[in-house]
Order: sequence, then structure tokens, then C-alpha cells
Amino acid sequence: MSEISLAVVGATGAVGREIIATLQRRKFPVDSLRLMASERSVGTTVETAWGDVTVENLADAEPAGIGIALFSAGDDRSKEHAPRFAEAGAVVVDNSSAWRMDPRVPLVIADVNDAAAMGHEGIIANPNCTTMVLLMALGPLHGAAGLVEMVATSYQSVSGSGQQGIETLLDEVDHFAKDTEALRTGTWETPSPGAYVRPIGWNVLPLAGNVVSDGYTDEELKLVNETRKILEAPDVMVEPTCVRVPVMVSHGIAVSAWFERDLGVTEAADLIAAAPGVELWADKVPTPLDASGRYGVLVGRLRPTIGRSRGVSFWVVGDNLRKGAALNAVQIAELVAG
Ligand SMILES: NC(=O)c1ccc[n+]([C@@H]2O[C@H](COP(=O)([O-])OP(=O)(O)OC[C@H]3O[C@@H](n4cnc5c(N)ncnc54)[C@H](OP(=O)(O)O)[C@@H]3O)[C@@H](O)[C@H]2O)c1
Repeated sequence: MSEISLAVVGATGAVGREIIATLQRRKFPVDSLRLMASERSVGTTVETAWGDVTVENLADAEPAGIGIALFSAGDDRSKEHAPRFAEAGAVVVDNSSAWRMDPRVPLVIADVNDAAAMGHEGIIANPNCTTMVLLMALGPLHGAAGLVEMVATSYQSVSGSGQQGIETLLDEVDHFAKDTEALRTGTWETPSPGAYVRPIGWNVLPLAGNVVSDGYTDEELKLVNETRKILEAPDVMVEPTCVRVPVMVSHGIAVSAWFERDLGVTEAADLIAAAPGVELWADKVPTPLDASGRYGVLVGRLRPTIGRSRGVSFWVVGDNLRKGAALNAVQIAELVAG
């Protein structure tokens, strides 16, 4: 790979910071590095492997000369600025949901559908973190047996909501720790408003994202639509429920999936164990604490479905900031860079 001028947009956020660390760990051939964020961060200096870099304001950053721009600054910024960067010659790898369902934009999980990246017209989208973790394990099963239907329930960590989610969990755990007896008796006091509609500290929220249609949240619809696009399987039936849990990092998904032909547990285990970036834990129970800080995703609890044949159930868990965001973005950049 030849050296590339790189920009990280949203460089001060949970994903942006992980992208900088991932570029460094994977020794990405960076010629020059530019960091961009909001007006609030302008002038902040970030120490990187390529020297100290001063954060620029995205709103007036000049994109000429940038080879690859890794965007994670939210949908509105991606909608507004990604085309401007692409027109100036950069390949944009976008972590937001702004472009994922645009037919001109490939939606790529490295090691699942790499070839799709090559058809880009300036913007490549990084899938939603829950879909990404799930399809790392489900993609190889679909390739072998043809996915027909799945019921998937996610257990999503607060870092999936960025820095604000992390701060809300920390604040609320402290708040409730002042009177733990109240958690037993139901006399707890509502904490100050945080990132979620109900408290997340010592709690579980059976609603991740915002309800957008027919009682489903945007997170749930991403799981449906992005699965179909990535697997090129527009008729796959997906029944999603997305839940937010008081976990700092890593999203888990409990899934039951049915296929065109009988896929026994032994064959499924072999396929999962052979998949790049996936580890099968046959005898240990993989949890978010185990997955956090790892690049690969972990699969456990693999078993045949009980009610209907041709199906398997399993649990998959992966670091939403790494494979679910930063690592995949950097892997796409590596594919583009050749
Ligand atoms: N967290 C995850 O697990 C995850 C996974 C996949 C995709 N994503 C996506 O990645 C994006 C960032 O998520 P995050 O979790 O890193 O959020 P975050 O921690 O809240 O960080 C947001 C970043 O965007 C920047 N930003 C906000 N408003 C801006 C503006 N008006 N102009 C320029 N920059 C602006 C922020 O800069 P300041 O610090 O200056 O405000 C910060 O660098 C989102 O689109 C999210 O959906 C997140």
C-alpha cells in the first residue's frame, strides 16, 4: 500500500478516537493525517503516531488533497459534507446511517462482502454496529445454506450512543449506588435526564433507538434493511428487537435463523470457526466483557432450533467501537488503498 493522505472526521468522538488508535495499531500507511470535528473542538491538539495534530472545524475544512476520509460525526454532517469531500477526490468511508441504503453506495463488512467496496462512486458506508456483529457470524452460514428467516434480539451497550451514552451510564450507576435499598423496594429517585427515555443504570431498556414506523425503532429497521442489502437477499425475513443494556462496550445478539436447507450444528460450527474475524467459544460463554477491546467477534451457545427444523440458534457478541465501527472503517480503507 502506498502512503495516503487521510482525514478522520468526528475525530474527538468515541468512534473517531478508536479510528485513530486502529490506524496506528494496524500500521496504516498514513502520509498525512488531518482531524476534524465541530467548532467546539477546534484548536484541540491530539497526540498521534504521526505527530501532534490540531483539530480543524469540519464546516470550513478544505478537502482538496485528501485520499481517504473516515467520517463518524453523525448523519447530518455526513449528508452535508461527504459529497463535498468525494467531489474533491477523497474516498469517504462513512460510519453514519446517512448513505447506507443509497443504491449507489456499497454497504461493506470486511471479510463478509469485500467485493462490494470496489463498485463505489466516492462513498462507501459502514453498516450499523449491531448488524455488523451479527453478520460476521451469519454471513458464512448464509453463503453455505441460504438464509430464509431470522428472529434477532440485540443487547446493545451504551457506547453505541457515543460519549453521551457512556456518561449517562456512569452518572446513573453513581446515582443509584447512593441508595441501593431503593432498587429493591422501588422507591428510587429518577436521575437527571441522560441519553435515554428511561434510566439505564441498573436497568434494561427494551427500546434502543427511536420508534419510527409500526412500533419499530430505527435500530430495528437497520437490522432488517442492512441485512438484506449486505447479504444481497432482499426477501430474507427479519424479526428484530433492539434492547439497551447497562454495559459499557460490546453489543450481543441472540438469534434464531432458518435456512433453505438443513444446516446442522456441526456444519454451522465448522463454518463459524473457519470465518475470518470470528471465534467460536464452544465451551465458554462469551460476554460483552470478553468481547470488548477485541477485533474479532465471539460466538457461543450454538444449538439447533427446537420448534422448527432447518435452523440454528446462537449468541454473538462484538466490540461495537472496533469491528462495529472503527476497525471495519479502517479495513474498508485498506481495501480501497489496495
Ligand atoms: N458508537 C458506536 O458504537 C457507533 C458504531 C457505528 C457507527 N456509529 C456512528 O458514528 C458516528 C459517531 O458516533 P460516536 O459514537 O463517535 O459519537 P460521539 O462520541 O458523540 O462523537 C461525535 C463526533 O462528531 C463530532 N461532531 C458533532 N457535531 C458536529 C458538527 N456539527 N460538526 C462537526 N463535527 C461534529 C463531534 O465533535 P465534537 O467533539 O467537537 O463535538 C465528535 O467528534 C455516528 O454517526 C454514529 O451513528 C457509532
